Amino acid sequence: MHSNFILRGHVLSYSASPFETQTPEEAVVVSAAVALAEGRIVGCGTFEEMKALQPQAEVIDHGARLILAGFVDAHVHYPQTAIIASWGKRLIDWLNSYTFPEEMRFGDAAYAQEIAERYLDLTLANGTTTVCSFATIHPESVDAFFTAAKARGQRVVTGKTCMDRNAPEGLRDTVQSAYDDSKALIERWHGVDRLEYAITPRFSPTSTPEQLAAMGALWSEHPECLMQTHLSEQLDEIEWVKTLFPQARDYLDTYEEFGLLGARGLYGHAIHLQERERHRLREYGAALVHCPTSNTFIGSGLFDMAGLMAEGQRIGLATDTGGGSSFSMLRTMAAAYEVGQLRGRPLHAAELIWLATQGSATALRMEDKIGNIAPGMEADLVVLDLSSTPAIAQRSARAADLWEAVFPTLMMGDDRAVTEVWVNGQRQ
Ligand code: GUN
Ligand code: ZN
Repeated sequence: MHSNFILRGHVLSYSASPFETQTPEEAVVVSAAVALAEGRIVGCGTFEEMKALQPQAEVIDHGARLILAGFVDAHVHYPQTAIIASWGKRLIDWLNSYTFPEEMRFGDAAYAQEIAERYLDLTLANGTTTVCSFATIHPESVDAFFTAAKARGQRVVTGKTCMDRNAPEGLRDTVQSAYDDSKALIERWHGVDRLEYAITPRFSPTSTPEQLAAMGALWSEHPECLMQTHLSEQLDEIEWVKTLFPQARDYLDTYEEFGLLGARGLYGHAIHLQERERHRLREYGAALVHCPTSNTFIGSGLFDMAGLMAEGQRIGLATDTGGGSSFSMLRTMAAAYEVGQLRGRPLHAAELIWLATQGSATALRMEDKIGNIAPGMEADLVVLDLSSTPAIAQRSARAADLWEAVFPTLMMGDDRAVTEVWVNGQRQ
């Protein structure tokens, strides 16, 4: 069996962030071919150059298709797969009505395994090769997810979601069990193959100050781990946080005070931020994760992409399934574009693709491994058909340039546009 390949097509890679160059297009290099060997990208350039690099490689010709780094979804809840698209609630009611009853089921290892596999099948079909997921309070839910991802060779992140208050009986841990279980899971899984553990306090309303402090202590003992949580998603939620933490200066302070603000921290949503919070997030180089389909679906608000990028924040893009309404990062880019429009800043296709690949990889502190097509990077790729439906095909047929050919797929595409997915140099 071959382990060396050359893929021909429009290979898109980034030499810089399109948010930092004069024009977004300038950040992009389009090559005619990419060479893979032993799970890594070994080069991109002309077909002749790649052929000279790897004369024996199997050649796969994708013609006019687009070849990108695999999508990176920086904030998801795999246990919410079966309750995606649940009607009519806002955040706190949505959690209580739909999410918590479903998450209760993940103490059953067989159910956790079934959903973990279903979730990874769905997301791989959508071209997503890396995700950073919340699990449930049950260690079994972490074992199930890592086991399923390991079998697929995927680079993923997850962690046991910690909650010791404001959650139903059966879905609460304690200060001690959250610490002990999380620590045991770090020791079992962190750094195994491509798996990484994230310390995961769900959000400050569902943890006592003592539990947040224990999570902060655990993070200081394991600074190699990411830490993921939620921040300032909905106005009602922020009011609730104020009553639960009356001394806190703002929502971020409920994390900061307990050692839960750091460069390897991931803060989902981050919509309704105060000046002080923005300043501190920037100072620490923490990552904000934009979840546009979720923010419109649950009615949370409009992320300030332009303002936050301008002040140099680290920003990733995510579906937030099942609060988000899609498993597809293409649908998520479309929603990010629409949210941008509602805030007066239309994002360019080069910016949207960057957010869904390198932006999210940078948020996860994995930009040296995934999220771009460059020598030495792990070979996670997605191949997109830019004419995947009649509606898209008739629009891209009119395109004057590559960006105009790409944009209809970002706005109207879904898993039908995903022709091929590569994980760690293996075609799926
Ligand atoms: N805040 C706390 N938990 C959740 C969750 O599961 N989904 C979303 N969207 N927000 C949250
Ligand atoms: Zn979330």
